[in-house]
Amino acid sequence: MSWQQEYEDKRTSLENAVNAVKSGDRVVVGHAAGEPVILVEELVRQKDRLQNVEIVHMVPMGNCEYCQVKGMENHIRHNAIFAGAPSRKAIAQNRADYTPVFFSEVPRLFKDGILPVDIAFIQVSPPDGNGNCSYGVSVDYTKAAAESAKIVIAEVNRQCPRTAGLGMHVSDIDHIVETDRPVVELPPPKITELEEKIGANVASLVEDGSNLQLGIGAIPDAVLSFLKDKKDLGIHTEMFSDGVVDLYQKGVITNKFNNLNPGKFTAAFLMGTKKLYDFVDNNPDVNMQPVDHTNNITVAGQVNKLVSINSAIQVDLFGQVCADTMGYQQFSGVGGQVDFVRAASISRGGKSVIAMPSTAKGGTISRIVLNLAEGACVTTSRNDVHYVVTEHGITDLRGKTVRQRATELINIAHPDFREELEKQATKRGLINAKSLYNMR
Ligand code: COA
Repeated sequence: MSWQQEYEDKRTSLENAVNAVKSGDRVVVGHAAGEPVILVEELVRQKDRLQNVEIVHMVPMGNCEYCQVKGMENHIRHNAIFAGAPSRKAIAQNRADYTPVFFSEVPRLFKDGILPVDIAFIQVSPPDGNGNCSYGVSVDYTKAAAESAKIVIAEVNRQCPRTAGLGMHVSDIDHIVETDRPVVELPPPKITELEEKIGANVASLVEDGSNLQLGIGAIPDAVLSFLKDKKDLGIHTEMFSDGVVDLYQKGVITNKFNNLNPGKFTAAFLMGTKKLYDFVDNNPDVNMQPVDHTNNITVAGQVNKLVSINSAIQVDLFGQVCADTMGYQQFSGVGGQVDFVRAASISRGGKSVIAMPSTAKGGTISRIVLNLAEGACVTTSRNDVHYVVTEHGITDLRGKTVRQRATELINIAHPDFREELEKQATKRGLINAKSLYNMR
C-alpha cells in the first residue's frame, strides 16, 4: 500500500481519534508549542467515559482545562515533568503530581518502560513526498514518547513548520487528525532596567566564538540584547526563541565555531512567535534533535566554549541553587539546567552562569539567603555551580571555599540585605565579618 493510501485510511475525525484512549491509559502529550491542543481539549470533552487517565506533560501551552476543575483528576490526572502556571495550583492541591527528572533523562522514562506509554498525542507537519512528517517545534521527548507508545494519535497541522532533523513516517502513526491552525505562540518577555543590568553582566562573560544554551524568560532575552557586538556566536541549546533569530539576522550568530555541528542551530524544542516558526520552516541549518542528545552532557560537553545561562529562585550562602520550588511548592522544574551546567563545566572554555535578580516580590525579599526556604529543593548543587550573577555583580564560585563563597555571594546581594546576611553568616561561623569588609 502506498503511504498516501495509508494516510487516507488513518485520517479520521477528532472524536474518533481520541476515542482510542481508554480508562487507565497513560497519555504522553507533545511538549510546549508542540502540544496538539485540540487532542487534549477533545480528551477533556470525553472525560465522562474515562477514569484514571494520566497525562504526562512537561510545559503545557494549552489552557490545561483538566487541571483547573476540581474532581476532574478522577477522570484525567496531570503528571508534570515541569510545573507551570496552569498546573501549579493543581499540584499544590494534590489534584496533580510532579515527577522530578533531568530533561535529558525524560526520553528514557518512556523508552525503558519506566513510564510505559499507552498513547502519544503529537503534533506534526504534513508529510513530505516520502511520507515523513516533521516533529516541527518539539522533538525533545516527543519523539521518544511517539516511538514508545502503543498508539500514536497525530494532529497533522498545515501550519506546523517542517524542521530539519528527525521525523515520523505515516506508517508509524495510528490515527491522523488534520488541522490548519497557528502553532501556539509565546510573545517575547518584557525586559525592564533590572533585567538589562543582569543581561549586561552576563554578556560580559560571553566571549566571541562562544556557543550558547539559553534558558527561558526575561533574563536570557536581556542577555541576547547585549550580545550585538560579539562575533561568531553559536547555538547548542535545548530551546531557543525569537531573540536568537534577531542575532542571526544581525550576523552575530554564525554557528561557525560550533565544532560539533558547524553552521547549525542545534536545539530540542522551539518556543516563540510566528517569526521564529517561519525562520525554522524548511531551514536546513536548524538541527532539531531529541533532548537525550542535545542535553546529554557527553554530547553538549564536547561543544567548545559552551556557555549555559539559566536562572534561579534562591541561592544560599553555600552556593546551592534552588530554581524549581518555592518552599514546599513546586514552581517549575529542573528542565535542562543541571544538564547544561554540567556540560558547560566539561566543555573546553565553557562557563555555566546562574543569573537572577538579587530580590523578589518587589524588592521585599533577598534571593541570596543564608538557607534555602524550608521545603525548597536543591536544583543545582554547590559542587556544580560556577558563575552566579545579579544586577549587583558577578561571582565565580568554582574553586572557592565555603567562607569565600558566602562572602562573595553577600557582595552581589542587594545592598539592603547585605548587613543582615553578614550578621546571619557570622553568627553561624560561615564568615568572619572582618574579612568580608576587607574584600570589598
Ligand atoms: N521567593 C518568593 N517569590 C519569588 C522568589 C523567592 N525567592 N523568587 C522568585 N519569586 C517570584 C517572583 O517575584 C515572581 O513573582 P511575580 O510574577 O509576582 O513578580 C515569580 O516568582 C517568578 O519569578 P521570576 O524570577 O520572574 O521567574 P522567571 O520567569 O524569570 O523564571 C525560574 C525563573 C528560576 C523559575 C526559571 O528560570 C525556572 O523555572 N528555572 C528552572 C529550570 C531551568 O533553568 N531550565 C533550563 C531552561 S528551560
